[in-house]
Amino acid sequence: MSEAAPAALVLKHEFTSTSGAETIDVGRKLAGLLAPPQLLILRGDLGTGKTTLVKGIAQALDAAEADEVTSPTFTLLHEYDGAREGQPVKLFHLDVYRLEGERQLETLGLDELLTPNALVLVEWGEKFKSIRKKATGEIVIASAGGDARKIIVTLKE
Ligand SMILES: Nc1ncnc2c1ncn2[C@@H]1O[C@H](COP(=O)(O)OP(=O)(O)O)[C@@H](O)[C@H]1O
Ligand SMILES: [Mg+2]
Repeated sequence: MSEAAPAALVLKHEFTSTSGAETIDVGRKLAGLLAPPQLLILRGDLGTGKTTLVKGIAQALDAAEADEVTSPTFTLLHEYDGAREGQPVKLFHLDVYRLEGERQLETLGLDELLTPNALVLVEWGEKFKSIRKKATGEIVIASAGGDARKIIVTLKE
């Protein structure tokens, strides 16, 4: 991935975690930084905690309990209704790992999801050029040995 650096101002936040529970906590904190509309790519190897992080975000938005948030690997898209600072938030959690090619992706109607109060989180979104172009930022989760993780959030202003 060697795309030209975006001209827009970029905000970067870094977190560390040593357990799944701690990653949920990070997700809760993160929710406060994510003013809709946002389309964020969730990047990280299988099992690093992308879905786990969404549990915390969903919880903070009163959109779902952590155990109600499951991986959309097969269903592709999960939708939750929440609120942030008194405003309704539509939380969309996608996993496009199994999708092959832009044509298949189009059936998801990603453009229609990105309404003014939407927070769209896409696991494996980096696979698709169209998603990389639309993304307002990304969350990268990297293993730091054992259960330790580094979570780096980059938001375009
Ligand atoms: N620091 C950590 N952060 C997130 N998950 C962790 C961590 N340590 C261990 N785990 C475990 O790793 C798994 C991550 O799964 P999941 O969130 O579904 O990953 P992904 O969506 O990235 O494939 C969970 O079983 C979780 O309990
Ligand atoms: Mg996942």
